[in-house]
Amino acid sequence: MVEPVDFAKEREKAMSCEKSMFPEKMVDAYARRILESNGKGAHTHDHSRRVLRLCMEVGQKLGANLRVLCAAALLHDIGRPFERELGKSHSVISGEMSREFLKDIGYNEDEIQGVVEAIRTHRFSEGLEPTSLEGKILSDADKLDAMGAVGVFRSIAQASVSGTGITGFINHAYEKLLKLRSLLYTDVARHLADERHELLKKFVERLREEASIVE
Ligand SMILES: [Fe+2]
Ligand SMILES: [Fe+2]
Repeated sequence: MVEPVDFAKEREKAMSCEKSMFPEKMVDAYARRILESNGKGAHTHDHSRRVLRLCMEVGQKLGANLRVLCAAALLHDIGRPFERELGKSHSVISGEMSREFLKDIGYNEDEIQGVVEAIRTHRFSEGLEPTSLEGKILSDADKLDAMGAVGVFRSIAQASVSGTGITGFINHAYEKLLKLRSLLYTDVARHLADERHELLKKFVERLREEASIVE
């Protein structure tokens, strides 16, 4: 008699195997070296770690290529500190830096292309639509980390760096943060976003009230 196959279990096993093939420590050490000394405000190394965790949560549920997704998550912002010096977006610089590094640690050309493409389209403000599942998940995870309690903390950290204060934070919240939920690509991320969005909305409304910023 043929044994019935538990497809869910098999899928889980395949995924954990794929995950163990990912040289997370090596990639994380590289991202850490760059971002710990150069990352400022909202774009520090811990942001990349949270984006990785969110990507894994969404990616495992949607059957994404975790080897590609892990690298894209950890490396997506490594070019940010060099934007001014190089005069181009970090979505391009991070991709270029990742390409060289991933080649050195044994990623094949298809995987590298997948990582670079996901990073290229991760910034919703550039208006580029992700072309792959991994790209959509990275973009969603990046947005999720700009929402909720962490989103509030990161925005205030950014407002302190740029010196824009409470008014700057509130404007940023209305212009960007409170629009993020409606811009998500995946249902899994939308589900994770609901509570974060509500908390953000309540915080901004309360801050406006207390700071007496009303039209
Ligand atoms: Fe970014
Ligand atoms: Fe980011």
